[in-house]
Amino acid sequence: MRVLLIDDDFNLCRVLAHQLEKNGYQVTTANEGKRGIELFRKQSFEIVISDIQMPDINGIEVLKTIRDLNKEAIIILITAYGTVEDAIRACDLGADDFLTKPFGQEQLLFIIEKAVQIQQLHNENALLKQEVAGKYKFDNMVADSARMQEVLKLTIQVARSNATVLITGESGTGKELIARAIHYNSPRKEKPLITVNCPSIPENLIESELFGHVKGAFTGAIKDRKGQFEQADGGSIFLDEIGDLREDLQAKLLRVLQEHEFQPVGGSKTIKVDVRIIAATNRNLELLVKQKRFREDLYYRLSVVPIIIAPLRERKEDIPFLIDFFVKKYSEGRKFKVSSEAIKTLQNYEWPGNVRELENIIERILALATDSKITIANIPEYISGSFYEPSGTTINIPEEGIALDTVERMVIKEILQRTGGNRSKTARMLQIPRHVLLYRLKKFGLE
Ligand SMILES: Nc1ncnc2c1ncn2[C@@H]1O[C@H](COP(=O)(O)OP(=O)(O)OP(=O)(O)O)[C@@H](O)[C@H]1O
Ligand SMILES: [Mg+2]
Repeated sequence: MRVLLIDDDFNLCRVLAHQLEKNGYQVTTANEGKRGIELFRKQSFEIVISDIQMPDINGIEVLKTIRDLNKEAIIILITAYGTVEDAIRACDLGADDFLTKPFGQEQLLFIIEKAVQIQQLHNENALLKQEVAGKYKFDNMVADSARMQEVLKLTIQVARSNATVLITGESGTGKELIARAIHYNSPRKEKPLITVNCPSIPENLIESELFGHVKGAFTGAIKDRKGQFEQADGGSIFLDEIGDLREDLQAKLLRVLQEHEFQPVGGSKTIKVDVRIIAATNRNLELLVKQKRFREDLYYRLSVVPIIIAPLRERKEDIPFLIDFFVKKYSEGRKFKVSSEAIKTLQNYEWPGNVRELENIIERILALATDSKITIANIPEYISGSFYEPSGTTINIPEEGIALDTVERMVIKEILQRTGGNRSKTARMLQIPRHVLLYRLKKFGLE
């Protein structure tokens, strides 16, 4: 990286330049502020380090001028003792950081590297935001949790490539949504996205559905018919519920993935296609492979890029945003306000049907609502009645019930672990006196 070093102290300049060059930076020095600005106008520098107190112009002036010329450059100011206030003002004016004299080599390098890293992070974030917001349209998707952000990032990255993608997640987690996002943000978006729901095609027809057939191949085949692979040529094919694909077809699919070619039913001609494969399943394919119910070679072919979508109960942070999103989607011009208790209640439910279930519930609540205020009273009882804990953790109560002692022991143990065995802290967190905690520890054998 290129560094412009501005300081009227000739010796200091030389020493710093030497240190920086030793660490791989390319350094140009200027012994006057004006000279520094002049150099900056002529050449490009990623980093500017400038003293504040200089005879010709103040470092703050240098900063302002350079900032006006260039928003990206990293600017670090050097202050003598007593001018820390200046330095703080400098940061307000757009400096990235400052060094107070005297400083060591380590400190200088540290400050520079930190500024570089922060800038890189900034750039990456800005890029991602820009992609998410503008070029790529993900406005039909809520992804606020860290886990969904990861999924989104991966989706954007993979969309650009031709890589085969395997999307795994429980029912209703948004697998199809991601599959569509991949296709419609890929260079193939002008070509078709063909969805094949593997288990819902009648068994005797699936082969002709996928690969087509020629006239007379079987009773009813009155003319040639293109299969879905051929229809998707140039585009993408979405193989939904791939875990339920019949075994003999698994072998055929593997061949398509390897050779990009197949033969229609009853035909002798081989057809070559250019399709991007996106597959999805709510089954554990790895397990199916172990059980020899899914071909291992096909599994590896499909999961070139695996995308795993977490169940909603593992990313409850998304729930308030999803509620907001679905309320807007189903409000049909009416205005609704969901109370914070209602949101909390919905957030505490485990959502076995994931986002789809939440979407259905919101649609239903809005359809039945007589008022613009949505409160707990609007929420079906099987949801609002589920066990509520302020922290958002839920205890799974078995069918046959659970002993209160067991729950108590579990909670004490958990908090004890969190506090690293600190009893006073544990007692405070449980809101009980310390001696009561000690008594229970003894009772539950947790000492
Ligand atoms: N992150 C999300 N943001 C907004 N809507 C979502 C999100 N995830 C899922 N949905 C919505 O939830 C519903 C179910 O999603 P989708 O059909 O993609 O799930 P799926 O994983 O394919 O489920 P299944 O396994 O049952 O086929 C859709 O209406 C979809 O738009
Ligand atoms: Mg689906």
